[in-house]
Amino acid sequence: MKIPVTKVEKSRLSEIDMNVLPFGKIFSDHMFVADFDGQFWVNPRIEPYAPISISPAAAVFHYGQAIFEGMKVYRGDNNELLFFRPQENFKRMQQSAIRIAMPPIQEEIFMQGLRQLVELDADWVPHGDGNSLYVRPVYFATDPVIGVKPSETYKFIILTSPTGAYYTEKLKVVIEKTYSRASRSGTGFAKAAGNYAGALYPTQLAKQKGYDQVIWTDAATNTKVEESGTMNLMFVIDGVLITPSLGPSKLAGITRDSVIELAKYLGMHVQERDVSVSEIVTAFEEGKLEEAFGTGTAANIATIAVIGHEGQDYSVPDPGPDSFCTRALKHLTDVKKGRIEDRFGWIEKL
Ligand code: COI
Repeated sequence: MKIPVTKVEKSRLSEIDMNVLPFGKIFSDHMFVADFDGQFWVNPRIEPYAPISISPAAAVFHYGQAIFEGMKVYRGDNNELLFFRPQENFKRMQQSAIRIAMPPIQEEIFMQGLRQLVELDADWVPHGDGNSLYVRPVYFATDPVIGVKPSETYKFIILTSPTGAYYTEKLKVVIEKTYSRASRSGTGFAKAAGNYAGALYPTQLAKQKGYDQVIWTDAATNTKVEESGTMNLMFVIDGVLITPSLGPSKLAGITRDSVIELAKYLGMHVQERDVSVSEIVTAFEEGKLEEAFGTGTAANIATIAVIGHEGQDYSVPDPGPDSFCTRALKHLTDVKKGRIEDRFGWIEKL
C-alpha cells in the first residue's frame, strides 16, 4: 500500500525538551489518517499533526461511537526502533470495534500506517529507560446525522507522542464500592471512549479524598476487585501472583498478559481468578500481602503503596530489589530496550 505523505515545512522537534516528557501532551510532527466511506477504507495519508475539521453533528460527539488503543515504540540501546506487541493492539481494536458496531479496520491500514508514521517521525522516539513513543490510534464515527444508529462513515487516526513515566510516584488507591467502571454485559472489555468518560467522576471524588486512583469493583456485588484506574491489577499474596481473571467487564491488558507470561517463566505460581475485597483486607491483616501493582501500556508496572478501604488505609510493603514487580519491570525494560533475548516474541523491529 502506498501512503502519500505531506511533510511538515519545519519540524518542531528542536523545540522539545526530550528530558521532560509529560504524558500525552507533546505530539510528533505527523499523523496518519484514513477514512471509511461506508464501503471501503479510502485516502490513507500521512500529514502534519494539526486540528481536523469535522461536523458538529458527527455521531462521535453525540453517542460516543469511538474507540482507541495505546501502544509504545522504544529506542533500543543500539538505536533500533522496537514496537512492543503491536499485533495485539490491532486485534484488540478489532474486538472493540465489533462491540461498538464499527466496521473492522483493515490490517494493512493499521500496520502500514503505524510503521510508516513511526519511520517518518523516528527522531521523536526518545532515549532513556522509561521513555518511549506512545502511539495512540483513535477511531471514531463521522456521519453528520443525529439519529441513534451506527455511523456509516468513520475516521481512523494514529497520533504519536514522546512520553516518560505515566506515574512518577507510588500510588495511593481506594477501593470503590459505589460506582463501577463496567458491568458484566457492558462494554468494559472494549477500549471504548465512553468507558473512560464514566470513570472520571468517581476518580475525581477519590482524588478529593487524597487518592490517586480507584480500585474498581464488580458492578453486580461490589465485592470483587477488577481494575485500578486505567490499569489491570495484580497482587502477590504469600508468594503467589494473583490477578482478577478476564471477562466482559475487564480490559485484556497487553502488559497484563506479558507480566503473567513472564511470571510463569520466572517460576512464580500465578492465579487468574475472582479476587474479593475481603481477601485483600484479610491478606493485609495477616501480613501476607507482599506486593500490589497495576499494569498497563501507559502506566507500565505501577507500584501501589496504599490501598484505602472503608475509611482505613492499608500500607503495602515497599517492593525491594528481589520483589516480583521490580524483577518484572527490569525484565520488561530489558526486552523493550533490546538488551536481552526476546524469548516470548514480543518485539517487532521497524
Ligand atoms: C494505556 O495504558 O495505553 C491506556 O490506554 C491508558 C490511557 C487511557 C492512559
